[in-house]
Amino acid sequence: LVLVLDFGGQYNQLIARRVREANVYSEMISYKTPIEKIKEMNPKGIIFSGGGASVNQENAPRIDKEIYELGIPILGICYGMQLMTIQFGGEVERPQAHEYGMTEVTIDVNEGIWEGLIGKRQCLMSHGDAVKVIPEGFERAAHTGNTPVAAMFNKEKKLYAVQYHPEVKHTPDGQAMLENFLYRICGCRGNWTMESFIQTQISEIRQRVGGKKVLCALSGGVDSSVAAVLVHKAIGDQLTCIYVDHGFMRKDESVQVKKTFTEQFHLNLDFVEADERFMAKVSGVSEPEEKRKLIGNEFIRLFEDEARKLGQVDFLVQGTLYPDIVESGTETAETIKTHHNVGGLPEDMKFELIEPLRMLFKDEVRKVGIELGLPEEIVWRQPFPGPGLAIRIIGEITREKLDLLREADAVVREEIRKANLHRDIWQYFAVLPSIRSVGVMGDGRTYGYPVILRAVTSDDAMTADWAKLPYELLEVISNRIVNEIPGINRVVYDITSKPPGTIEWE
Ligand code: XMP
Repeated sequence: LVLVLDFGGQYNQLIARRVREANVYSEMISYKTPIEKIKEMNPKGIIFSGGGASVNQENAPRIDKEIYELGIPILGICYGMQLMTIQFGGEVERPQAHEYGMTEVTIDVNEGIWEGLIGKRQCLMSHGDAVKVIPEGFERAAHTGNTPVAAMFNKEKKLYAVQYHPEVKHTPDGQAMLENFLYRICGCRGNWTMESFIQTQISEIRQRVGGKKVLCALSGGVDSSVAAVLVHKAIGDQLTCIYVDHGFMRKDESVQVKKTFTEQFHLNLDFVEADERFMAKVSGVSEPEEKRKLIGNEFIRLFEDEARKLGQVDFLVQGTLYPDIVESGTETAETIKTHHNVGGLPEDMKFELIEPLRMLFKDEVRKVGIELGLPEEIVWRQPFPGPGLAIRIIGEITREKLDLLREADAVVREEIRKANLHRDIWQYFAVLPSIRSVGVMGDGRTYGYPVILRAVTSDDAMTADWAKLPYELLEVISNRIVNEIPGINRVVYDITSKPPGTIEWE
């Protein structure tokens, strides 16, 4: 285990990811974690992250100096380097010239984390403060035109510090430096792999569950699918999965889920066909939040009914991921949209949670999925909102509109895939508004619905940019939709980023 102490910088999660890419297990914890707890966790190395504060500020984050006496190697990045500097009696100042962006750094030494990397290297710099006086016991290891001390180290105490960011891809040799730190300085072996992760999880789940029953709400998305298959591997038929088909799924999706999980994985799957029930609920409703709430509530009611049929169930599987649980300082103040998940079950239905993916990042979940043999369509499925196509039909939902949208969406997905862009684009789909326009086809007038094409790039769905799809691809999609789907006579492309737009239309 290598711990990343989080001082609040913007790249901090990336540090843990990079460490894991070196096959060393890493967790990120707050810098406020008591030193006793850190000792208990017994890490082989510690990394101080960057952070937005200035170490010279009065309330700047600090850490108990005892940490330097534990004999555990430490790597300080950016803010972490400055903190180390002042805690060892050096000085940090705010120079005239700032360095933001790609910078040429000269590595002056050929040892420690820089072994084999001496000379000029491109690194990402992003700092206002810089080290002015190196603390006693430390040696300079790198400099730039503007920053005399871009890295330093204290060999005897195994303390290393860099002003630049080795964790970002813009620092091409950053991973090599991190690996030097992990393997040479901390003595990590690098044997943490998805395969070993799966084995550990399986035995932990077995031990925890014993002979009891476990429930899982399967959505067909990557997180719940991987979680379900993993838990199933551990406890077999003690796991029951409930899949609710609310009728707002994409073309062929529910059939595929059923096939994969029953035929390929032999999961105990309670497949609930409830489209009539959901359709009756939303009929005549056009306000987006009302739709979301109706569908969310109905989903919980159905899930609850099915769960009760199973008698005593003690555990609920959830596909929670690491980014959902790492402490973060910010919380969205305003509800922009009510998200739909399995939260909100009634008070008397108390489950203990099994969250086998809670320590993983999304890309790691995908790796686990592949390792478990899940099909590519599930492992690489794009995010899909809980209420499904119901919130991609703007205004009132009818069966006719659902069918039109389903067909149009299928064309979009097929063509993006054919163009081999499906892994580069975060989400791509069709939206059906409830207006109609006049067109001409052959010699006749048409009066049909338009389809809005939406495709965005993003890292986390918090912000997104509209995807710059090639014109040729847009043309093919447009032609196919208008020619193949009677009732649709126009295709438009949404060129709004988020913010100010959102990814979905409702
Ligand atoms: P917006 O539209 O707010 O969407 O930019 C951000 C991301 O969240 C997805 N989304 C949902 N996911 N339940 C979900 O699990 C929901 O109710 C829901 N609504 C939106 C959306 O597809 C995008 O990836």
